[in-house]
Amino acid sequence: MRLSPLPTLLLASSLLASSVFALPQDGAKVVEKKAEEIQEAVVVIPRDSPQVEALPEASKIAEKKDEPKQQVKKDEKPKPPKEEKYFNEPGTNDETGHYDARYFKGLVEYEQHRPALRLLIRSYLTIFRKLEVETWLAHGTLLGWWWNGRIMPWDYDLDVQVSHQTLFYLAEHHNRTMHEYKYVDEKTGEEATKTYLLDINPSHKYLSRLQGMNIIDARWIDTSNGMFVDITGLAEREPEKEPGIWSCKNHHKYRTRDLYPMRETEYEGVPAMVPYNFDRILTEEYGVQSLVTTEWLGSERMGQGRA
Ligand SMILES: *[C@@H]1O[C@H](CO)[C@@H](O)[C@H](O)[C@H]1NC(C)=O
Repeated sequence: MRLSPLPTLLLASSLLASSVFALPQDGAKVVEKKAEEIQEAVVVIPRDSPQVEALPEASKIAEKKDEPKQQVKKDEKPKPPKEEKYFNEPGTNDETGHYDARYFKGLVEYEQHRPALRLLIRSYLTIFRKLEVETWLAHGTLLGWWWNGRIMPWDYDLDVQVSHQTLFYLAEHHNRTMHEYKYVDEKTGEEATKTYLLDINPSHKYLSRLQGMNIIDARWIDTSNGMFVDITGLAEREPEKEPGIWSCKNHHKYRTRDLYPMRETEYEGVPAMVPYNFDRILTEEYGVQSLVTTEWLGSERMGQGRA
């Protein structure tokens, strides 16, 4: 299993950071213009392999970074891209918000929902491992792992994370790819196959969250019913202000040393990875009680205490 290419990310993000985050208050236009620059600048990082070896020198990134800036200046009125939501759901409530609109055929019945969630995460973890792409459990999924190595009975969704750099690799090599996963049907005992779609949000490349329509960077989607795993990327978004702090577009923050080195473990019976300081991460997200009392679990079940 390869580790994320930390050094590139640090390099690229430190070059970009000042322009991304020293934004004036006057609105989306500026943010989007910056986003265009970021897109151009980030694109020069080679992504034919997730390995650390083939990284460009800092000077090359810096050279390329200057080009789009000049273009933006020449262009009198750069058209800011209107932010469209990339992933769409059939609804916005707790149930319908957890399906991809393209594959939604109605709510999955209670008895099939749990097995479908299990297959989602098993197929995701197994196939990402085969692709040698680093990914780890996050949020409620990580909490379920801590309690019993499984999905919690009341969990409705699945969350995993990857590095910002990994998203570029996935976008280049695996965007919109279909993956077959063979399994034994728990009810019938027969072998069956499911097909999953890996879909990468083109907004993954932006360091800022823009208007907040695209905070989910990628999805692993069950094409038989639209259920999915949310994949979000962690980036060191403000390396000058907060060096060593990684975050997703939804403002969850992590220290490098709390993430790495990742720990090998199992989740739902398949090999998985969790961040090094998982207990600290869980405590910061859900509070100390989430790890020690079963009463807290009761409140989680009622939908309180969710991040
Ligand atoms: C993935 O593919 C779809 C369909 O071609 C495209 O709309 C989307 O922008 C692609 N994502 C990335 C990250 O390039």
